[in-house]
Amino acid sequence: MIVPAITPNATYDFADDVRAGLSRRGQKELPSKYLYDDVGSALFEVISYLPEYGLTRADERLLRKHADEIVDLLGGPVAVAELGSGSGKKTRWLLEALCRRQRTSYYPVEISRSALDMCERELRDIDAISIVGFEREYLDGLAEVAAYRDKDRRLLVLFLGSTIGNFDRPAGVKFLAEVRRILEPGDFLLLGTDLEKPESQLLSAYDDELGVTAAFNLNLLARINRDLGANFDLGQFAHVAKINSKARSVEMHLESRRLQRVKIPASRVTIEFLESETIWTESSHKYSAMEMLQIARKAGFEMKGQWIDAEWPFAENLFVAV
Ligand SMILES: C[S@@+](CC[C@H](N)C(=O)[O-])C[C@H]1O[C@@H](n2cnc3c(N)ncnc32)[C@H](O)[C@@H]1O
Repeated sequence: MIVPAITPNATYDFADDVRAGLSRRGQKELPSKYLYDDVGSALFEVISYLPEYGLTRADERLLRKHADEIVDLLGGPVAVAELGSGSGKKTRWLLEALCRRQRTSYYPVEISRSALDMCERELRDIDAISIVGFEREYLDGLAEVAAYRDKDRRLLVLFLGSTIGNFDRPAGVKFLAEVRRILEPGDFLLLGTDLEKPESQLLSAYDDELGVTAAFNLNLLARINRDLGANFDLGQFAHVAKINSKARSVEMHLESRRLQRVKIPASRVTIEFLESETIWTESSHKYSAMEMLQIARKAGFEMKGQWIDAEWPFAENLFVAV
């Protein structure tokens, strides 16, 4: 069964956030959530197939291989909420394992309408599933799912693909603690985390030869042109991936190729960019497998299981709320 998705009650304002991020003194920034409009979500899907970007395939291998073991550890019926589901392709393994044992409600929470549509199309053929999508930000959507839940079932929250890495470390723990506050003791969180690896491997994962990641990043400026009437000249900005060793992250930036001014009418600003000045658009923090124990504890969970991919260092971490 597929129930029409719950549509947005947007609590964010693209035009205001663009003005605030590009008017900052020092490093200009744009929130990474705005990378995912229809074009961005489609490009991200392509990124997940690129040879350089092993992350999605590692996540999927772990879910395919360990789905039954993970379901055994849940110890009873659950409803499933997924934060930032994207296309939901990898989630199939887990949902099929659950649906072989019980009818399962699945609630993807997505800021991107087109990702939510892809996800519903991708998973609706699974037997014994009911899908209700929430076009919401993570915590707003999760709070609604929690209000909607069947009290006889535990909730299993999925946060896959190492999307947690978009937060810096303290903000990541704070976010997981917010997730925990919405849950009941005994509920679960399955968290995917990309692990540290050589810099050259990370740089090509975020700056592939074909230029798909560059297009994904530049699409943010194209989106500002489309949605806010701006006049960014995309040829005058370059995609740059860089390692931040102190933060243990890879950062994506858009670098201005020359001194230029850009008008953004809906944000009521004109922004000046110096030659080589960058807009910071995304961070992807990398973890050690051991540090996940500490992160679980700090956020109010206990580690129940951890699985690590042998080909591409990536960990699936099962936390239980205490
Ligand atoms: C890195 S992609 C990961 C997609 C998928 N989970 C995977 O592992 O392939 C992040 C997803 O989260 C969604 N997203 C980003 N920020 C969000 C937010 N604040 N609230 C809800 N969804 C968000 C994006 O639309 C995107 O589909």
